[in-house]
Amino acid sequence: MHSIQQLQEIINKAIADTKYTQKPTELYEPISYLMELGGKRMRPVLVLLSTELFGGDVMKALDAAIGIELFHNFTLMHDDIMDKAPLRRGKPTVHAKWSESAAILSGDVMFVEAYKMMIKVDDSILREVLDIFSDTASGVCQGQQADMNFENHDEVTVDEYLLMIKQKTAVLLAGSMEIGALIGGAEKKQAKLLHEFGENLGLAFQLQDDILDVYGDPEKFGKLVGGDILANKKTFLLIKAKELAKNHKSTELAKWTNGTSHDATQKIAAITSIYDSLEVRKLAEAQMEQFVTKAITALNQTGIENDTKVILQSFAESLLIREQ
Ligand code: IPE
Ligand code: IPE
Ligand code: MG
Ligand code: MG
Ligand code: MG
Repeated sequence: MHSIQQLQEIINKAIADTKYTQKPTELYEPISYLMELGGKRMRPVLVLLSTELFGGDVMKALDAAIGIELFHNFTLMHDDIMDKAPLRRGKPTVHAKWSESAAILSGDVMFVEAYKMMIKVDDSILREVLDIFSDTASGVCQGQQADMNFENHDEVTVDEYLLMIKQKTAVLLAGSMEIGALIGGAEKKQAKLLHEFGENLGLAFQLQDDILDVYGDPEKFGKLVGGDILANKKTFLLIKAKELAKNHKSTELAKWTNGTSHDATQKIAAITSIYDSLEVRKLAEAQMEQFVTKAITALNQTGIENDTKVILQSFAESLLIREQ
């Protein structure tokens, strides 16, 4: 049995040991830059915990775990171009440091590198794992496109939002856990329960990400606080605020979300104060708790009782109070 911290160390060591020294350097350097900036390593940790939950050896799942982290970092590299984000993990984003073209191509090659790691799984589960991985990757693209579409679409419902975050974020946590479970020797039915756990965890995780984007401590968050407000992202907070705002508050919200020439600092302050007055953060937190409860129910349905299960459960609960 390994603790979360031990698993993070195993993952960080494997990442530090992998060098991308091929040429041209502009294509490969951003990979090492972004991968070595840190990050919580949540998805690869989930791969390894899922393997261990079923009694498998974490070292057997390490390549796939790194493949998942490579894929995640590729999506961040492209996401930061799309979201015009200046900061990632407290440092300049790849497109800001190099160029958009470099970030597009480096991301593309990272996706290929991710596949190269995934195909190292045992032949007996190779097709199954690649099917899950490919479906996951398509899901993320679908969610990311919906997220972009919503920027220019005023009437987004909570259900549409939840489907969008399920695709852009939750499917990857779900896929990571399903793959980890299969490597650990789980039966298909058990692997599906872990998929369900990961999906609900992912929904809660993205809700918290949306909350932190407004209320996070800039030092700990590592990204530009208020970025979602500036990009008119249809987050749970904005959708609920639109739903609840009446009279002058509703006009005020429309004014700040419709115009394009507002001062950035003023826009962030004005919308945050509307969120505060309508207490939408509390609603988001209540929704998050529901997803965490659902996740834990799925985990309990596996019928497994061991130390790794306890770690997974407390990991899920800790996401509710994370600050980065
Ligand atoms: C950021 O993911 C993208 C989202 C899905 C919200 P993380 O918050 O896991 O980012 P890192 O890897 O820890 O930096
Ligand atoms: C991220 O959503 C989803 C993916 C990267 C696929 P966000 O755009 O909210 O992620 P952050 O906040 O930039 O990390
Ligand atoms: Mg985004
Ligand atoms: Mg983003
Ligand atoms: Mg975000």
